[in-house]
Amino acid sequence: MSNVIDTFRLVGKMALITGGGRGIGKAISVALAEAGATIIIMDKDEVSARNAIYEIQGNGGSAFFLKGDVTSNKDVIEVVKQVVKQLGRIDVLVNDAGIVRNVKAEEMSWSDWFDVINVNLNGLFLMCQQVGRQMIKQKNGSIINISSMSANIVNWPQPQCSYNAAKAAVSHLTKSLAMEWAMHNIRVNAIAPGYISTELTKYGLTTEWGKTWIDLTPQKRVGTPEELGGLAVYLASEASSYVTGSIIVIDGGYSIV
Ligand SMILES: NC(=O)c1ccc[n+]([C@@H]2O[C@H](COP(=O)([O-])OP(=O)(O)OC[C@H]3O[C@@H](n4cnc5c(N)ncnc54)[C@H](O)[C@@H]3O)[C@@H](O)[C@H]2O)c1
Repeated sequence: MSNVIDTFRLVGKMALITGGGRGIGKAISVALAEAGATIIIMDKDEVSARNAIYEIQGNGGSAFFLKGDVTSNKDVIEVVKQVVKQLGRIDVLVNDAGIVRNVKAEEMSWSDWFDVINVNLNGLFLMCQQVGRQMIKQKNGSIINISSMSANIVNWPQPQCSYNAAKAAVSHLTKSLAMEWAMHNIRVNAIAPGYISTELTKYGLTTEWGKTWIDLTPQKRVGTPEELGGLAVYLASEASSYVTGSIIVIDGGYSIV
């Protein structure tokens, strides 16, 4: 019988991470690689993704890059096909790719609304569907969706209704897929971060918004991408074998109140 630490190990596992080139996706890629997984980063930004790959390889890990946009069903089908062709299977899918547009509802253009819903929700579904089909064949898999505390709370003071709506949908989609695919031995969970220091929050953190965010966070700081790595390893691994349909918040206490 294996000990508890062994159940966290991902040696021999193939993990596909969208948006793994930087920020939270990169930190999760590094963490999964440290636990032994082979990493495939799918990102539309080739430069940052290649740097992430070199960093993982430099640390002795195994990592590959496949360029792709999660909103393109053609790209999604091609990337999944390539991974299965070259590596044989996909054990872990992390849906991290996401964007935000801080625009007031009454001033929002259709494209601002559509782009946020398209990347954060539609693209995530396309990935789940395509990888889910492969995991059903394998009769095994763990899907980790990067939702947000914004699925449950409304951020203040910046306007971001499209993002909040998309993340609420991601959290409920996570539970819906967990229900549908439990019979196929596929677990589907989500991580719901609070404010994390990345390119996505960089502008806000240099303004009054950032001061408000920190003020409203009981731990009085924003998080680092690396602080999400441990949970990602847990959810990807056998250590979480009885966890599915869970939305786990990491937010320095922001959602307590
Ligand atoms: N930073 C935060 O405070 C925070 C909080 C909660 C949730 N999140 C979520 O975490 C995820 C990552 O955020 P981040 O802060 O690391 O952002 P980031 O902007 O630093 O990184 C996002 C990555 O996704 C890639 N990407 C964007 N659109 C893509 C597309 N259509 N196809 C493929 N790749 C695409 C980008 O190239 C980039 O590498 C997002 O889903 C975001 O909503 C972030």
